[in-house]
Amino acid sequence: MSHTPSRQDFDHYMTPNYAPQQVIPVRGEGSRLWDQEGREYIDFAGGIAVNSLGHCHPVLVNALKEQGEKLWHLSNVFTNEPALNLAKSLVERTFADKVFLCSSGGEANEAALKLARRWAVDHHGEHKDKIISFYQSFHGRTFFTVSVGGQPKYSQGFGPVPGGILHADYNDLESVRKLVGDDTCAIMVEPMQGEGGIVPGTQAFLQGLRDLCDEHNALLIFDEVQTGVGRSGELYAYKNYGITPDILTSAKSLGGGFPIGAMLATDAVAKSLAIGTHGSTYGGNALASAVALAAVEFIDTPEVLAGVKHRHDLFREHLETINRKHGVFKEIRGMGLLIGAQMSDAYEGRAKDILPLAIEEGLMALIAGPNVLRMAPSLVIPEADIAEGMARLERAIERLVATA
Ligand SMILES: Cc1ncc(COP(=O)(O)O)c(C=O)c1O
Repeated sequence: MSHTPSRQDFDHYMTPNYAPQQVIPVRGEGSRLWDQEGREYIDFAGGIAVNSLGHCHPVLVNALKEQGEKLWHLSNVFTNEPALNLAKSLVERTFADKVFLCSSGGEANEAALKLARRWAVDHHGEHKDKIISFYQSFHGRTFFTVSVGGQPKYSQGFGPVPGGILHADYNDLESVRKLVGDDTCAIMVEPMQGEGGIVPGTQAFLQGLRDLCDEHNALLIFDEVQTGVGRSGELYAYKNYGITPDILTSAKSLGGGFPIGAMLATDAVAKSLAIGTHGSTYGGNALASAVALAAVEFIDTPEVLAGVKHRHDLFREHLETINRKHGVFKEIRGMGLLIGAQMSDAYEGRAKDILPLAIEEGLMALIAGPNVLRMAPSLVIPEADIAEGMARLERAIERLVATA
């Protein structure tokens, strides 16, 4: 007997920690999706900054198919060719000398934090254990990363949180100076806060963090899970700033929809991840690595990266045009194809109300907190899809305005 899954099945069978929209997409191609009823949508959400080349991009499908017929998985008892090729490619394209592969952003950050602590013990002693991060930051849902994250609502109610974690104000170097000292092991920061509302770090702030880390023998960790792999208009956002971290984490766009994460580090730091200190069964999985390599090689080209910057300008122009007519946004900000539109005072807290209206109009978008409409589309979204998606967004906003 065949059963067509429905949205009610979610409530029956799945843990209640998500509240998915009512429609169930079943097929995707490029920046378009179709649901069970055959309704079509334009995708400005990109699986929360994951579908870097849209849906079913032939380059990624081919990489998956080719590797799928060769070898899927070995575990780290053996290494494999796709993982080695991916690690080499990431090293050659970045500041890093060494790569640890895993399956998600949270896992990459967990590795980064554990490495930083181990490095501090190896080189300075047990006392150097303080990790500084920022209010509103988001680093994942493992208990360590959620505690380093700056949104207490995600870490409260689960018992004692890991210690040695301090929070400062983002883009406020003075607040970091008050916390930093010789017991600081690492500063973890998103070059642009994503979940926290699409807030780019200023040049002076990120440079100041680099300088403070150097002054106090601490490590600078850039969480580029959301900003990485072309999303900012460079392969990694640190390249936009010319500020080099000691450790960088990557996931989301890296696999273009196939789950993979990576932690990149300098040789001097990576040495502390000695045999047996850390691991992950799926880390360096051959299928994931083959897809990620194809994604990185496709994205890290002058044409694709320039295309991201060009599309950023198009998104901004469309949003500004909508705003001139309807006055719903206070500020439009972001980098590359990670764009946030902060709601104006009259629509404070109402970004989330746009999402179901947009879906009814045939558009998928995101929020970043209650007050910011977020867009993280495919890095190669066709210009016609941007224009059509914006027309649909405008209709959704007209309806929001009509009910205000
Ligand atoms: C900056 C940042 N770090 C870490 C994560 C966690 O990644 P994952 O959900 O793959 O564990 C996210 C997810 O939104 C993120 O935006």
